[in-house]
Amino acid sequence: MQRDRVTIREITKRTGSAPRLAMITAYDFYSARFADRAGTDLILVGDSLGSFMLGYPGTVPVTMAEMIHHCRAVTRAAPAAFVVGDLPFGSYQTCTRDAVANAVRLVKEGGCEAVKLEGGTERCEAIAAIAAAGIPVMGHVGLGPQSEAAYGGYRVQGRTAEAARRVLRDGIAVADAGCFAIVIEAVPRRVAEEVTRRVPVATIGIGAGPGCDGQVLVYHEVIGMHTGRAPRYVKQYAAVGEQITAAVARYCDEVRAGQFPAREHSYLMEQAELERFREHADGVEH
Ligand code: KIV
Repeated sequence: MQRDRVTIREITKRTGSAPRLAMITAYDFYSARFADRAGTDLILVGDSLGSFMLGYPGTVPVTMAEMIHHCRAVTRAAPAAFVVGDLPFGSYQTCTRDAVANAVRLVKEGGCEAVKLEGGTERCEAIAAIAAAGIPVMGHVGLGPQSEAAYGGYRVQGRTAEAARRVLRDGIAVADAGCFAIVIEAVPRRVAEEVTRRVPVATIGIGAGPGCDGQVLVYHEVIGMHTGRAPRYVKQYAAVGEQITAAVARYCDEVRAGQFPAREHSYLMEQAELERFREHADGVEH
């Protein structure tokens, strides 16, 4: 069924009011097509594609070229969802000029409608400059996977009163700097609730409890197309990886046993053409 494009106005309208915003990552044409058809409001071309598409140990190695390549595939497949592209590590931390230039590339070359970047008070200058260039910016506070090494691993943030105040300060700062929405990752639910109460823009939680204006999860973890353990906050809605393994194993078995391809998978010829072909086949030179 056709549906209206989700716009930034719609996202703003649903800030603080039902229904909540549903966001999921997608990295290629078909993940985006299925997510869009399923009715997701927003698609995030997350730099988590480093792990889920490219087999990197995390998000740090992901380049601008890789992000643009995947953003182009996603935006070709998603006519309705609002598509946000992640600025990868190193593309905005160097200076404000780089941040704006790379945000422009994600929009211009990747086709995204908005960009996302990680960080709090230290990123306000970059956020303000990108927003001033006319590009909607989504913030990302709490756990920022690009800074995993600085945290000493993927750790829940904001667990002490002081750390919780830091998350709140970051949320307020990036909203003030001009973000139209903020991802809050891996913080206690009460902290995310307080950020949501205090900022005038949509909050999108991941591992941040039910109190945000919306939720985001990684596509592969939602459909069960991954190996290894998922974080505690993930809910897996299907076991697609198991189905894929079973289907490919059956295909291999049938090929080996000569059961595939069957008659219905083969092209046929008119009988008369077949007879003429056989008559002259021996005469075909090497
Ligand atoms: O890259 C990503 O998937 C993300 C989500 C964790 C929000 O940034």
